[in-house]
Amino acid sequence: MVFSHLFAVFFFINAIVLRGDKFGVDGLRMDYYIMSCPFAETIVRNTVNRALQSDPTLAAGLLRMHFHDCWIEGCDGSILIDSTKDNKAEKDSPANLSLRGYEIIDDAKKQIENQCPGVVSCADVLAMAARDAVFWSGGPIYDIPKGRKDGRRSKIEDTVKLPAPIFNSSDLISTFGQRGFSVQEMVALSGGHTLGVARCSSFKNRLSNFDATHDVDPALDSNVAKTLSKICSSGDSAQAPFDSTKNLFDNRYFNALQMKAGVLTSDQTLFTSPRTRAIVNGYAMNQAMFFFDFQQAIVKMGLLDAKEGASGEVREDCRTIN
Ligand SMILES: *[C@@H]1O[C@H](CO)[C@@H](O)[C@H](O)[C@H]1NC(C)=O
Ligand SMILES: *[C@@H]1O[C@H](CO)[C@@H](O)[C@H](O)[C@H]1NC(C)=O
Repeated sequence: MVFSHLFAVFFFINAIVLRGDKFGVDGLRMDYYIMSCPFAETIVRNTVNRALQSDPTLAAGLLRMHFHDCWIEGCDGSILIDSTKDNKAEKDSPANLSLRGYEIIDDAKKQIENQCPGVVSCADVLAMAARDAVFWSGGPIYDIPKGRKDGRRSKIEDTVKLPAPIFNSSDLISTFGQRGFSVQEMVALSGGHTLGVARCSSFKNRLSNFDATHDVDPALDSNVAKTLSKICSSGDSAQAPFDSTKNLFDNRYFNALQMKAGVLTSDQTLFTSPRTRAIVNGYAMNQAMFFFDFQQAIVKMGLLDAKEGASGEVREDCRTIN
């Protein structure tokens, strides 16, 4: 495990910032399960650590899954639901393609159900797992409020609300703005792409017939374009890492943007656009600043439309509504 030297600092700041009601959503608390399921956090952490030890690439899958979950209808575990014959779920959208790690959630949830049945929501298991995956990969450590409830809706058509890989910075600013995120928070959350890979289907438009005047996207370095084209010669599902350290949570994603090596349009635009370039430069220079902003922003994201009380349930099996 890679320990952040900033462990103590972040932990301390979190304790101050998040104890109060600053991000208060009624009913959500850091210590929500302290009486009802005291080992829930430990179970999730151990399960995530074990899984990532055998496959570190799953960290990106968990973080991305949490993001997708929260973005649609709030963090309500809706991304975990399997399709049925009457309902095509979010999971089956083409946007799901790099979502991985469902087995980790199932595994942790099963162990938790054995200890405290019907208490810990799937949405919370996922939020904790994503948090633990970030830390395991070398990123910041942070505490998150818990007490989310699981939703009862998961529809493939809702996934159109997700930010798209072809978005430019104005699109990103407005989409994130609609969910209450500042420009800086949007850039920090985009930094989640420090983990993982993109598939050719989401960036091949940049490599040929880009627009009326360019064959290749001029925002992309020409050598990087060649490398990406080579990768994509093996098909739409071939993968390119977002930065040189795809399993390490660090600030190299922002360095890649400075070198015109951002893989998606929605990555490179953060450097191309004067509205966000200074933030990218700041994070590229100062990893601690990125870590700090990222953890603030992801905690905030984890509270999007959090359902509590009567509006949700605690799913027994994360893949099906009760
Ligand atoms: C993602 O959706 C596709 C259909 O678009 C489906 O075939 C595939 O199984 C889904 N992947 C996961 C991991 O659920
Ligand atoms: C961003 O893309 C939208 C279409 O999605 C377009 O209308 C807009 O002009 C673009 N903005 C910039 C600054 O390129």
